[in-house]
Amino acid sequence: MKVYTAGIIGYGGMAGNHEKVMRVDYDRMKLKGIFDINAHRCDVAREQGYYVYSSREEMLNDPDIDVVIVAATNDVHKEIAIAALKAGKNVICEKPVTMTSAELKEVMEVAEKSDGVFTVDQNRRANKDFVLMMRNVEAGRIGKPYVIESRVEGSRGMPGGWRTEKKLGGGMMLDWGVHLIDQIMYFVKENVKEVYCKMFKVHYDEVEDNLKLILTFESGLVAQIEVGTNNYIKHPRWYVLGDEGTLQIDDWDCTGRIVRCLDKENIWGEEIAVTKAGPTKTMAPRSPETVQTFELSEPNDVIDNLTVVYNQLLDAVEGKAELTIKPAQTMRVMKVMEAAFESAESGNAVKVNI
Ligand SMILES: NC(=O)c1ccc[n+]([C@@H]2O[C@H](COP(=O)([O-])OP(=O)(O)OC[C@H]3O[C@@H](n4cnc5c(N)ncnc54)[C@H](O)[C@@H]3O)[C@@H](O)[C@H]2O)c1
Repeated sequence: MKVYTAGIIGYGGMAGNHEKVMRVDYDRMKLKGIFDINAHRCDVAREQGYYVYSSREEMLNDPDIDVVIVAATNDVHKEIAIAALKAGKNVICEKPVTMTSAELKEVMEVAEKSDGVFTVDQNRRANKDFVLMMRNVEAGRIGKPYVIESRVEGSRGMPGGWRTEKKLGGGMMLDWGVHLIDQIMYFVKENVKEVYCKMFKVHYDEVEDNLKLILTFESGLVAQIEVGTNNYIKHPRWYVLGDEGTLQIDDWDCTGRIVRCLDKENIWGEEIAVTKAGPTKTMAPRSPETVQTFELSEPNDVIDNLTVVYNQLLDAVEGKAELTIKPAQTMRVMKVMEAAFESAESGNAVKVNI
C-alpha cells in the first residue's frame, strides 16, 4: 500500500482534527508539515514534530507532498486550492469549498486541467444520525417522505473570530448551513426548484447567527433546514414525515423512533377527544393498535471520521473509484446557498432549477 504524504495550509482548529486522524487513525496518509500565517500556530506544529514551511510556495514545491489539505479561513480557499492544483497536488478543501459559485467555477476549471484530484471535506455525509435517517427513509419505513426537517441548534452564540466577519466567510450559512444542505442534496436525488430563507442577526451585526431555510424539490418534497445558535430548548435533529409514518432522531447520539401506521383505513373513530384545550376530533390520538413504534439506535457499522473523506480521494487518485464528494455536487450546494442569501435579502422565495 502506498502511503501518501499530506501538508496542511491553515493550521487552526479544524486542522487539529486532520492532524489527529492522520496520526492516530489512518495509515494511508501521514502529515509531513504545515503552513500558517500565524506564528503561534506554526510553533504548535513545530512542537508536535511537524515541518513548518516558510511559505505556501515552499510546501507546493515539495515533491514529497501528494495531498494538500486547505483548512484556512473561507476567504482564501479559492486561491490556495488553485495554487495547489497548479502545482499538481491533490487537494482536499475544507467546506464551504469557496465563498461563491463563481469562485468554485474557477477552481473547477483549474482542477480539470491539472494532474491533481480535487475534493471537498463534506465530512458530515458520514454522520451516523444522517445515515440512520437516510437508511430508514430509503427502506420505505415511513412510506413516501414529503417533509424532511433537519436542524442543528446550540445556545452559546457563534464562536468569535472570523466566523463573525462577512469578508472572511463568516455566518452560519457558510459554517453549518453548507453541511445540512449538502446532506439533503446528497440524499434527495432531485433538482431544487424553490429556495426560501430567513436569516437572523440576533447577537451579531455583520452575519447571520441563525437561519431557517426551505427547499422545495421537483416532486414537491420539502426540506426545512434550521441552524440556531440561540436555542435554549432544542428540536429533534431529524423529523421526517412520510405518508405512512413519522421518523424522529433526537440528537447525534441517534436515539429516536419511527411510528408507522398499521391501519390506514381506520382513521376515524366516532369519539371526540376532550382535551384541556377543548374537544377535538382531528387532533384526537390514534388508538394504539393502529400504529407500530420502532426504536432507533446508533448504526454501529457506520464509520464517521475524516478517513472516509481521505479514502475516497485516494481511491480516485489511484483510479480505483470515482470521487464520492464531487466538486459538481458542491457547486449545487453553493448555488442553493446563493439563492438563500438572495431570498433572505429580498424576502421572497427564489425560483431555481439546481
Ligand atoms: N468539515 C468540518 O466539519 C469543519 C469544521 C470546522 C471548520 N471547518 C472549516 O475549516 C476551515 C478552518 O476553520 P477553523 O475552525 O479551523 O478556523 P481557525 O481560525 O481555527 O483556523 C484557520 C487557520 O487558517 C490560518 N490562515 C488564514 N489565512 C491563511 C493563509 N492565507 N495561509 C495560511 N494559513 C491561513 C489562520 O491563521 C488559522 O490558523 C474553515 O474553512 C472552516 O469552515 C470545517
